[in-house]
Amino acid sequence: MHLKDKHIVLGITGSIAAYKAAVLLRFLVKEGAEVQVIITPSGKEFITPVTLSALSGKPVVSEFFGANDGTWHSHVDIGQWADLMLVAPATASSMGKMANAIADNMLITTYLSMKCPVMVAPAMDLDMYKHPANQKNIETLRSYGNMIIEPDAGELASGLIGKGRMQEPEAIVEEVVGFFQKKKN
Ligand SMILES: Cc1cc2nc3c(=O)[nH]c(=O)nc-3n(C[C@H](O)[C@H](O)[C@H](O)COP(=O)(O)O)c2cc1C
Repeated sequence: MHLKDKHIVLGITGSIAAYKAAVLLRFLVKEGAEVQVIITPSGKEFITPVTLSALSGKPVVSEFFGANDGTWHSHVDIGQWADLMLVAPATASSMGKMANAIADNMLITTYLSMKCPVMVAPAMDLDMYKHPANQKNIETLRSYGNMIIEPDAGELASGLIGKGRMQEPEAIVEEVVGFFQKKKN
């Protein structure tokens, strides 16, 4: 159990690769991490909160406000709780919002409140990935100290072949474990 007692916020956005986030979440939990999932409204089109809350053992956070009962989720509290935020998969849109402080959903608002390190695993089609606007956003995130988990080259969900495929869950967990080990030394 390499991640015992670690508090990880797993941010999931609206990419086909969201299906891999379920496996990633399972691996993180198996390694002993406590994981709070935050999913964008669009992410819920790709994977259900039920799957994610069953795997994490915690209600999934997505909306700012509760159902008409005056309650809300606190991005500040989540920001204080976390030892690491991992956004996987990260869409072009979400990375653009992160780079430019467009805090129009819980995930981006929480990202901006984070006091801990942040890892980002982009996932998108090769042309979106290559676009200078996207590359610029990735460089901006790097300049903020965020760790970018470079996507793989290979066959993409579109059928095209190129760079943009999110790293496999095993490789992402290795990065996370490596990060905490380095921090300890
Ligand atoms: C079937 C489908 C797959 C998509 N896959 C991706 C993707 O892998 N990466 C990406 O950046 N956008 C992808 N998009 C577009 C995003 O879903 C869209 O930009 C959305 O607004 C992202 O919102 P979010 O970043 O707030 O989750 C996809 C759209 C559709 C319809």
